[in-house]
Amino acid sequence: MPSSPPLHRHGAFSPLHGGGLRRSQFTYRQLSQLASSGTSNPLRVVAHVDLDGFYAQCEMVRLGLPKDKPLAVQQWQALIAVNYPAREWGIGRHCSVTEAKKLCPDLIAPHVATWREGDDKWAYRDDADANISTDKVSLDPYRLESRKILALVKDSLPAGLQRVEKAGIDEVFLDLSSQVHSILLERYPELKSPPPYDDPTERLPLPPISALDWQADALIDLDEEQETVDPDWDDVAILIGSEIVRDVRARVWNELDYTCSAGIASNKLLSKLGSAFKKPNQQTVVRNRAVGSFMSGFKITKLRNLGGKLGSQVVTTFETENVKDLFEVPLDTMKAKLGNDTGIWVHNTIRGIDNSEVNSRTQIKSMLSAKSFRPTINTPDQAVKWLRIFVADIYARLIEEGVLENKRRPRTINLHHRHGSQTRSRQGPIPQGKLLDEETLLDLAKDLLAQIISEGRVWPCSNLSLSVGGFEDGVKGNMGIDGFLVKGEEAEALRYAPGESRLASTEPDRPVKKRRVEDGGIQRFFARKPSADGNSVNGPEPSAGGETDLPSRPLGMPNLDLPVGQPSTSGFASAQAEHGLPDADLLACSRCKASFIDPDALQSHEDWHLAKDIQEAERVRPAFAERPPTPRSSSQKGQGASSKRGRGGKLEHGQSRLRFG
Ligand code: CTP
Ligand code: CA
Ligand code: CA
Repeated sequence: MPSSPPLHRHGAFSPLHGGGLRRSQFTYRQLSQLASSGTSNPLRVVAHVDLDGFYAQCEMVRLGLPKDKPLAVQQWQALIAVNYPAREWGIGRHCSVTEAKKLCPDLIAPHVATWREGDDKWAYRDDADANISTDKVSLDPYRLESRKILALVKDSLPAGLQRVEKAGIDEVFLDLSSQVHSILLERYPELKSPPPYDDPTERLPLPPISALDWQADALIDLDEEQETVDPDWDDVAILIGSEIVRDVRARVWNELDYTCSAGIASNKLLSKLGSAFKKPNQQTVVRNRAVGSFMSGFKITKLRNLGGKLGSQVVTTFETENVKDLFEVPLDTMKAKLGNDTGIWVHNTIRGIDNSEVNSRTQIKSMLSAKSFRPTINTPDQAVKWLRIFVADIYARLIEEGVLENKRRPRTINLHHRHGSQTRSRQGPIPQGKLLDEETLLDLAKDLLAQIISEGRVWPCSNLSLSVGGFEDGVKGNMGIDGFLVKGEEAEALRYAPGESRLASTEPDRPVKKRRVEDGGIQRFFARKPSADGNSVNGPEPSAGGETDLPSRPLGMPNLDLPVGQPSTSGFASAQAEHGLPDADLLACSRCKASFIDPDALQSHEDWHLAKDIQEAERVRPAFAERPPTPRSSSQKGQGASSKRGRGGKLEHGQSRLRFG
């Protein structure tokens, strides 16, 4: 069972040690461990920062528009981002451009940049919406802005104490614990004194303040009972966290012109709910003592990972839509009705408990570039033109990921092809040991295409998608849980069904890593099919009629239960054209940047991350000293960091060029 901080940390105070002085609930040990960002520390401070209407703001900045102008970003006839002034007119992502312009005739609706078949770079084009058959959306402009913002966020935090996790194109988690620790000691020098009797389990004195200045922060209301209790160190810690976040947001606004919203709390789950609580341009603080009342206000299906089938199952099982009512359900009942792991997870989640760590390592698992063709394409030449575009698109992202410096590189490449209802995919390893360049990737992609073509029944083709995956660090770092799992693309590329050709590999044979299979692990939690005992839920399922053309397992998910070497046939609904969904690269996983065409596939993928978190929480349970302490430094905001911008500097200035042979 994952260790879990108690929900209500602020109970009645007991007159403690020494002369009846009231003491803090927290110990000297907990305070000192704040420096090392332990994930189960009750003083922990985590923030989530999310840009408001991000793509829309990017366009506002690009076009130099005043902030009050209504703007929505157009992709073909759909809207993919809407700014807050436009939302006031009732415009949302569900609207078509025509509907939106009816609602607000002054709406500014730039079309996203596109790659164009036969052209050598992405560009903003006035006629893009009329060219769905020859254009492919490019999100490069937004990625570039995202990088700038991320660099500034990092630059705003002291170099030695920061822990920043990019959680999506427009959001980051910050574990502020060690910075907060150092500020606490500066502001309250009494905390530096050794504990009485040198006993770290002694409780701290209470903070010397009875009222905290939260400035403009949105504070989650407290239960009446909590209202009257004096602040303890967790309140002070979160207040300091909130000050840090206010400064970060001010810099993003002053230097880059973007507004964002933030949540400050004791973990990722709560901080993410907090950042969405009041938008735009606000920050919400969820104090520990407010967690119960905060969580009780949510509908079950509004919680992350409970929006899908698992959420519906919980609602049906306990006959309520409200988190509040679930507080009454004992853990044993949850486990009995939902299965052990799911039961524990739901029990914790509704109470705002989440011990997952803020992970500064890059978590990218795969990159996908795809296009559905309307009309279909009919010749190898056309297909190769699209492969060039996909490769350029992917390569630009690889540069961002540090492929040129050999920091991270993919091990496998994968091509999916659709002809009518028939889909095929071929994959192979990417030769290691020399610098990966665009030409090499293109040659590999063409090779895969040639294999598919050689089998016949290829034209007309209605969808092509190219992906790379199996990312590895050039420099070997810590192995996370992934080290115990066979990575998805890697697993597929390393194992071939009889008769499937394989690209020549120049790399030495590597032993295939053993997948960790355990009862009660991820497999059970999100098994594809209901297990015999009916416990497993919410797996990525084949869609009806097999009308899909991408792998059954979202990219980036370990191949947990696919028969070895079987070509995949379902899962991602492609068909974005039919469903009016954004182009292939528009649904990005907020955790690892894997891309999905279909929101359900993305949801399943995110569920998988969560299951992984649970498994990780179970694996690394020892509550303290999970990792070496972060080196302490007295550096102040903005002093050190200077995170280098401009790696792959050419891209910073705009476009990557395609070479047409
Ligand atoms: N996005 C998208 N398709 C989705 C979800 C998100 O294209 N299904 C894009 C949006 O255009 C958005 C960016 O990803 O600008 C970030 O998404 P999100 O944070 O969910 O929404 P925002 O548009 O930023 O709006 P908010 O202010 O609510 O965060
Ligand atoms: Ca956002
Ligand atoms: Ca977001």
